[in-house]
Amino acid sequence: MKTHTPLVVGNWKMNPATLGDARKLFLATRKAIGRKKIITQVAVAPPFPFLSEMERLSPSQRIGLSAQDVFFESIGAHTGEVSLPMLKSVGVTSVIVGHSERRAAGETDAEIYKDIQAIFKSGVTAIVCVGEQARDSHGNYFGIVEAQLRSALRDIPKSKLSQLVIAYEPVWAIGTGKHATAEDVHEMKLFIQKIVADQFGRPAIKKVRVLYGGSVKETNAQELFEDGRVDGFLIGGASLNPVEFGKIIHIADDYAKSNL
Ligand code: 13P
Repeated sequence: MKTHTPLVVGNWKMNPATLGDARKLFLATRKAIGRKKIITQVAVAPPFPFLSEMERLSPSQRIGLSAQDVFFESIGAHTGEVSLPMLKSVGVTSVIVGHSERRAAGETDAEIYKDIQAIFKSGVTAIVCVGEQARDSHGNYFGIVEAQLRSALRDIPKSKLSQLVIAYEPVWAIGTGKHATAEDVHEMKLFIQKIVADQFGRPAIKKVRVLYGGSVKETNAQELFEDGRVDGFLIGGASLNPVEFGKIIHIADDYAKSNL
């Protein structure tokens, strides 16, 4: 039985090329989700320059707005950075933090920690990404995920845990077409929950959603959701195809409804 409202987030990354294309993608996504009542929370994370226009297009709030990154300071001389007050002022309600593509560009655990602290203070939801570069036969990848998590979750107040979402995104599965098996995803979800319980106590598991990301498609979503037992997905490539993204949302939603 599911304990969480599913969450499906489309990370558009550095796509599409123009504001006009972003508008079309957003409207097509909204159409693909349709008017049927869904219990799943949906969000898209467009590039920063498109956020305020996307806010204007979504008066019904059926699609929430997420940011792909943030800088922990609120204001001042930080050329090129974007703050939480700025994001909140254009309707952003969740922020992806520690994505492996940001980590590959030099973001450190220490910076991610500061970003998460700022996100929690601001009241928006943090979608914290963790995941190993590669799998090895000795299970060292568990240690890597554990270290990323312990660093990210330090000092989070228990009272704010419902603002925390953890996305397991193995780097080898991102954009490669090779997704983790449902069994591996389930095993990692249990491992992540163990760390959460260890740090915050067992009731915390009910508050913290665990997503999977990495080559999620309409063809594997059912299996990953049902057998991987995740609470939703963080989707890259397939979120740029509105029809496919809509199908994945409905796969998660139908399953969640049938398990209410
Ligand atoms: P893909 O779905 O393209 O593999 O990307 C996953 C991802 O990085 C989402 O944040």
